Amino acid sequence: MSESARRDILAALDVGSTKVTCFIAQGEGAEMRLLGIGTYRSTGLRHGVVVDMDATEAAVGNAVDAAEQMAGTRIERVILGVSGAQIRSHRVKAEVSVAGHAIQAADVVRVIDSASSALRDAEDKAEVESVPVHRIPVGFAVDGGAGVKDPTGMFGETLSVDVLLATAAPGPVRNLETAIERCHLGVESLVVSAYASGLSCLVDDERDLGVTVIDMGGGTTSVAVFLEGYVVHVGVLPIGGQHVTNDIARGLSTPVASAERLKTLYGHALHAPAADREMLEVPLIGEDEDGQSNQVPRSMLTQIIRPRLEETFELAREHLETAGLFAAAGRRVVLTGGASQLNGARDVAAEVLQRQVRLGRPMGLKGMADAAAGPGFAACAGLLRYGMTSLPFDRGLERFRKPFATGESGSPRAARPASRLGRLGQWFRQNF
Ligand SMILES: Nc1ncnc2c1ncn2[C@@H]1O[C@H](COP(=O)(O)OP(=O)(O)OP(=O)(O)O)[C@@H](O)[C@H]1O
Ligand SMILES: [Mg+2]
Repeated sequence: MSESARRDILAALDVGSTKVTCFIAQGEGAEMRLLGIGTYRSTGLRHGVVVDMDATEAAVGNAVDAAEQMAGTRIERVILGVSGAQIRSHRVKAEVSVAGHAIQAADVVRVIDSASSALRDAEDKAEVESVPVHRIPVGFAVDGGAGVKDPTGMFGETLSVDVLLATAAPGPVRNLETAIERCHLGVESLVVSAYASGLSCLVDDERDLGVTVIDMGGGTTSVAVFLEGYVVHVGVLPIGGQHVTNDIARGLSTPVASAERLKTLYGHALHAPAADREMLEVPLIGEDEDGQSNQVPRSMLTQIIRPRLEETFELAREHLETAGLFAAAGRRVVLTGGASQLNGARDVAAEVLQRQVRLGRPMGLKGMADAAAGPGFAACAGLLRYGMTSLPFDRGLERFRKPFATGESGSPRAARPASRLGRLGQWFRQNF
């Protein structure tokens, strides 16, 4: 691959609670073409947080290797999704004086910096440790006149901004980054997974009119609210499809693998009379393959699945209410993530949330094989879209991050000597 082609390449890494996925893509004008995908079973995370560094490192290494092989190129940096790291959203207003000159890009940076600093000061005072993940201007005002999308070139006395600042807990982010660094990869940018899912699943009209994205994964359910074209809130709940599986395993005294199979093949969140008569063969825990099994009516699965789904969407509703966004977030919900495929999940979401709910899948990537087009890949596809649109802006965020020490260790991926530029870049990253 030529040097210029390599420069257009973006790589996304979504380290989920059930699978790690790596997408490698190349820009094609305003679009992207998928060159390679790799996905590998993830066993090192709980609720999106690394609990087993070695298992996470191995899964990342395997997923990245597979994607690299398919793409026929090697990657050095990834856009990394974060979901379980105690993500929090803050809306902060800041104001700077711009009297005497037309507003320039530097003024915009200054006012956003001022919002970031205000949050950092407030958190320092409250002794809250966090790392910034996003700072996204949600609206500008010049001399109090709100609704300004781009203030550059305008005249006035004051420029104010309303910024969405998303932060994460430092420990989990550090562990995730360390697992990735051990695979000899750098982190280009951190992106909250739910925001990424919104970027890949929503159409512009939805983002403008107001929509809530709910990405129901294995160990987490992440939420992002979009209004007037902007993301205005992100959050993560520590509950997901694995809870449904575990409930089935417990309720039917069957191994987790068999519960997972029953859920995906026969599970339904809505009761159907015929399901009382249909009997399922359920292997009992502790028995080998030819061992004892139970005959259970299919409707029993519904009795187990439905309450857990109701609880999940009730938690999502409470989360939005606490953020003051339940009423403001529009009438639509887009449900995505692997667990959104559970039959009847859409109906339960519509009932609990009292919203129009549609199922979302990743859109806008050329060359997407069917295997990568499912809702479980929405976040990873969105990370690429983020890379296309927001990376340059993001680089300004780096100086607000406290540096992490990097640990050295072995890796399933072959080590590559860091280039001079790479090391210099890292030095900058850690010192500014
Ligand atoms: N066909 C299906 N029907 C029901 N559930 C499914 C189906 N396919 C996958 N799931 C569930 O989706 C969940 C995994 O979703 P996903 O791949 O989005 O999670 P993840 O990204 O690895 O985890 P997280 O985002 O929570 O860290 C699992 O709990 C799995 O049981
Ligand atoms: Mg996920």
